[in-house]
Amino acid sequence: MKLNSLLVLILTSVALLSCNTKKEEKKFEKEVVSKEINEGYTLFKNNCYACHSVISKSHDEIIAPPMVAVKRRYKMAYNSKEDFVKAVVAWASNPKEDNALMRGAVNQFKVMPKQLFKKEDLIKIAEYIYDNEIEQPAWFKSHFSSMHPNGMGSKKEMKMSN
Ligand code: HEC
Repeated sequence: MKLNSLLVLILTSVALLSCNTKKEEKKFEKEVVSKEINEGYTLFKNNCYACHSVISKSHDEIIAPPMVAVKRRYKMAYNSKEDFVKAVVAWASNPKEDNALMRGAVNQFKVMPKQLFKKEDLIKIAEYIYDNEIEQPAWFKSHFSSMHPNGMGSKKEMKMSN
């Protein structure tokens, strides 16, 4: 490339860039956020979906409660994102029957087996779960309303699950 045209190229890029910095910054922020979401989702799928999957066809086929149910139960108990993330990370690092919030699930499936997850991955997974809508299996809505006819917040339900 000739020096002249190189100079023109540089000058126009600088001009373009300076007009676009605001836009570029926004785009960059968006990309960072969606990259984090993607990472959380991938970790979640790879580490938790083997058991907490949504592709099961019916309630009888599952081996663990769908994550959407876990999320609902944990959001009832922990109302800030910080507490929610802490609780999920603590649980998945060392699941113990005595600490379980989902008594019905423990009775039905046995307590979640202890596995070696990386803490930093668990944090990303828990944040992903808190921040995003989690897919639910097709059967979940009707099962949920038949199991919890008075809604999750009722006194009866609290007694049952605690
Ligand atoms: C090998 C199967 C399996 C895998 C993999 C698995 N879980 Fe579980 N999980 C279970 C079962 C079974 C239960 C229901 C019984 C219980 O509550 O312990 C459960 C329950 C839970 C609960 C509710 C615990 C409670 O208070 O009762 C949380 C939270 C949870 N899992 C998070 C995770 C996360 C996060 C991952 C991925 C990092 C994960 N699980 C991966 C089997 C699994």
